[in-house]
Amino acid sequence: MSERKVVTVTTAEAKRQNDIMLELAQHLQDKELKYWLQTFGCQMNAHDSEKIEGMLKKMGYVKANSENEADFILYNTCCVRENAELKIFGKLGHLKSRKRKNPNLMIALCGCMMQQDIVLDTLKKKYNFVDMIFGTYNIYKLPELLQTRFETQENVIDIWEKHEHIVEDLPSIRKHNFKSCVNIMYGCNNFCTYCIVPYVRGRERSRELNDILDDIKKLVNDGVVEIMLLGQNVNSYGKTLTPPLNFANLLEHVAQIEGLKRVRFMTSHPKDLSDELIEVMAKYPTICDNLHLPFQSGSSKVLKTMNRGYTKEDYLELVSKIKLAIPHITLTSDIIVGFPDETEEDFEHTLDVVKEVEFISAFTFIYSKRTGTPAATMNGQVDETVVKDRFNRLIATLDPISARIMNSQIGKTETILVEEISKNGNNIYSGRTDAGILVHVELPENKIGQFVDVKITSAKTHYLNGELI
Ligand code: 5AD
Ligand code: SF4
Repeated sequence: MSERKVVTVTTAEAKRQNDIMLELAQHLQDKELKYWLQTFGCQMNAHDSEKIEGMLKKMGYVKANSENEADFILYNTCCVRENAELKIFGKLGHLKSRKRKNPNLMIALCGCMMQQDIVLDTLKKKYNFVDMIFGTYNIYKLPELLQTRFETQENVIDIWEKHEHIVEDLPSIRKHNFKSCVNIMYGCNNFCTYCIVPYVRGRERSRELNDILDDIKKLVNDGVVEIMLLGQNVNSYGKTLTPPLNFANLLEHVAQIEGLKRVRFMTSHPKDLSDELIEVMAKYPTICDNLHLPFQSGSSKVLKTMNRGYTKEDYLELVSKIKLAIPHITLTSDIIVGFPDETEEDFEHTLDVVKEVEFISAFTFIYSKRTGTPAATMNGQVDETVVKDRFNRLIATLDPISARIMNSQIGKTETILVEEISKNGNNIYSGRTDAGILVHVELPENKIGQFVDVKITSAKTHYLNGELI
């Protein structure tokens, strides 16, 4: 795949797709078609799915109550780990017989998994009942692909090897009306040796500052109070822009948008996190006191073969600097166990980092071999039972630390943004503190989307209970 430095933002293309949406909406208006969209993987995919839903709605589709009653089933796929892929193939197995019984059922697959030749070949050979396949770069073309499918009555496969432009101004359905994600960049240039993302999401390209700020201002006018800035590596934001800009500059602009109460961002790569960013985070109260800072492994040897660009000591030093500047910060992380050639000693370095940093929580992963990545052909793949044992020991180290931090919150007063009705019972709502901690609280009325003050009364490993004050 070749590198592209210049990004064309095309509103002309958005207009073309919008016109097709209106045409299709007219064509489909009496049919009352229902869609079912299932999203796998990360927040980036979830955000792409909001755009897909926005387009489907504009074309006249309404959301089905279940997959069984849908006329159009879409899976937005993930390929970061093998499990995610196996789930999709499992689901396709079920859909095959449904499609046989109802040939009018439309099935579409999109997202990261589709960007791999090996997957595409399997789909063509074994799953040729899938009506539409598209990738990560051309989601905005859904209306046109659907139109082609209707007109030709043939399966449509459209996978691009690289992205051509960032298309702005497409409709989108937001899951929440009080908080929203905003993409600031796409792709990744880091090529961590275990990771498939750079191959399926392409090279890094940043959105223009003003496009991002305009988006956020519109959202705030619409009632949004919390924004999550999204990128595979937000710390390298702006490098592809002319003149270049950095993430600290962008964040400072966002933090000052009137009416916006909270800004979060993910994901930060430790090697690119600047002192300037730490200063900006410490300066603006709108920037939440939480940082997701994946370290992946605590062993400098493993980090080197992972191509992460920092050592254990670099990471710990960075964390000390952050904690000094922002004392109330909570840290979260991604950790991989069982990377090729990981020894017991390497793994103990990972446990060291966990103990020293005291993460409030972490996403823990068993290394999964991804065809096409350098790690897939590395020697020293670790025995499954050894990996499982390490994984369990990792959780057993993380959990008591989480519990201890959670317990230390008891008695404090916290402002939470109420997000949803909790599964824990009647009138119990859940929300998050500035530091991102989940809190359950009983409320006399629905306050979703509002800030309330609560006193923390008890703690579990991964959430707190509070009382309204
Ligand atoms: N195996 C296991 N975990 C992986 N991740 C990415 N690729 C792999 C892989 N091949 C994890 C990393 C990353 C997170 C999004 O997924 O920890 O930070
Ligand atoms: Fe994957 Fe590394 Fe890029 Fe994250 S920074 S998306 S782990 S290659």
